Amino acid sequence: MRPPVQYRLFDDEDLHEVLRLANDALDEDYDGGLFLHFARLHPEAFHVAEAGDEILGFVMGTVQRAYQARILALAVADGWRRQGVGTRLTQRFLTAFRQHGVKRVTLEVRVSNDGAKELYRSMGFETDDVIEEYYNDGEDAYVMVRTL
Ligand SMILES: CC(C)(COP(=O)(O)OP(=O)(O)OC[C@H]1O[C@@H](n2cnc3c(N)ncnc32)[C@H](O)[C@@H]1OP(=O)(O)O)[C@@H](O)C(=O)NCCC(=O)NCCS
Repeated sequence: MRPPVQYRLFDDEDLHEVLRLANDALDEDYDGGLFLHFARLHPEAFHVAEAGDEILGFVMGTVQRAYQARILALAVADGWRRQGVGTRLTQRFLTAFRQHGVKRVTLEVRVSNDGAKELYRSMGFETDDVIEEYYNDGEDAYVMVRTL
């Protein structure tokens, strides 16, 4: 049987695994400095899911203005998807910022990413805008927004 999934804030020692997960799951090329930068800036916006020794998911974000937070990256490892981990991570992100007086949460998602769009919709996010050629490969992004 697999160990239970637990949730906690990011720790610097998670960097290697989070980076591996990000580069596996997201079609972007991330470097560790970016993750450490945001971990320092807003530690309450960086959560991981782990089972035993394995980091199997994370959500990372920032605060853009006093009242607006932004999800920058969310990923769950292949073998752990469709078990509610992405939802729990996003919930933790929203809860952390509700307690800090943030009123709006925004994010960008590939227009073709039906799974992620469905997850965010199920959590009350709505499509607000389109940014053309937002991603390195030229794909457009939907901007999705949720009020808290
Ligand atoms: C998107 C992602 C984070 C979802 O994580 P997850 O742990 O599988 O999500 P959940 O189990 O919490 O899913 C919640 C709901 O979202 C929807 N959903 C999630 N993945 C889906 C998929 N591949 N296809 C259709 N709907 C999906 C479903 O409605 C799901 O509920 P259900 O399983 O009861 O039907 C994960 O698939 C992933 O890491 N993908 C690659 C990286 C990525 O796209 N990140 C988002 C970038 S903005």
